[in-house]
Amino acid sequence: MQTLNQVTYLRAAIRAEKEQGKRIALVPTMGNLHAGHLALIKRAHEIADVVIASIFVNPMQFGAGEDFDNYPRTLTEDLAKLEAENTHYLFTPDNKEIYPNGIEAHTKVNNEALGTNLEGHSRPTHFEGVCTVVSKLFNLVQPDMAIFGEKDYQQLAIIRRMTEDLCMPIDIVGVPTVRETSGLAMSSRNGYLTDTQRNQAKAIYTELQSVKKQILSGSTSYNALCIEAKTELLAAGLEPDYFDICDAKTLTPIRENAHSDNIVVLSAAFAGKTRLLDNISLSINKR
Ligand code: PAF
Repeated sequence: MQTLNQVTYLRAAIRAEKEQGKRIALVPTMGNLHAGHLALIKRAHEIADVVIASIFVNPMQFGAGEDFDNYPRTLTEDLAKLEAENTHYLFTPDNKEIYPNGIEAHTKVNNEALGTNLEGHSRPTHFEGVCTVVSKLFNLVQPDMAIFGEKDYQQLAIIRRMTEDLCMPIDIVGVPTVRETSGLAMSSRNGYLTDTQRNQAKAIYTELQSVKKQILSGSTSYNALCIEAKTELLAAGLEPDYFDICDAKTLTPIRENAHSDNIVVLSAAFAGKTRLLDNISLSINKR
């Protein structure tokens, strides 16, 4: 694996690969790699000739008071994991390489239609940071495809929309969430959890599954289902931020008794100070 931290070298390497007609997959990450990230790399190998991972803890997508400073940075371990997965290139730029004119002055990319509710409600500047850095990585690498985890459902939806709206010729590939045996979705932030919190956190997936089951059994009492799930999360010792039943494409909440063929149930909840996300999708036609 070649590790590159400058755009000039990255571009030269990619040019050489493209000249040989190689298909390139990009796996953008913020590092502290776990089995969920490695599933993205594995998927990239299945569909591309050259796999490029990036590790950049993007300051623009963290709000004031969030965990940017404490976000786990484990480059040595990450390098070994990427090597073991036969990753071809790792791009690890610093802030100056990505934001040469500073963060404030940088051109911003955003999609308000998909980015203001759910995560966007609690983290109003988050998706602007995500879309800006991802569009920048797309322009730098110009991959044929880019791979993202379905755990960050709203992020994946926004990136798909951004790519479509801005006519970026890149296939956006989603990979199913990898879970711990308890059902807890793998996340770099799980490392913040105490044993007790980790045990409490599994309630998020339990509630998502329970709501999915009830909808598939015919319930359309969406408000009641969400209220009940939040009560259960509280009872498990978590502090729910949101628990919503939304249309899978538009991400708008589905009103009581309304119909949507493709539904996603999304939740964010705090275990102590750690904010955890998860979601579950269901298709009514496949009842
Ligand atoms: O999902 C993440 O790790 C980040 O949001 C991403 C897509 C790498 C952008 O910084």
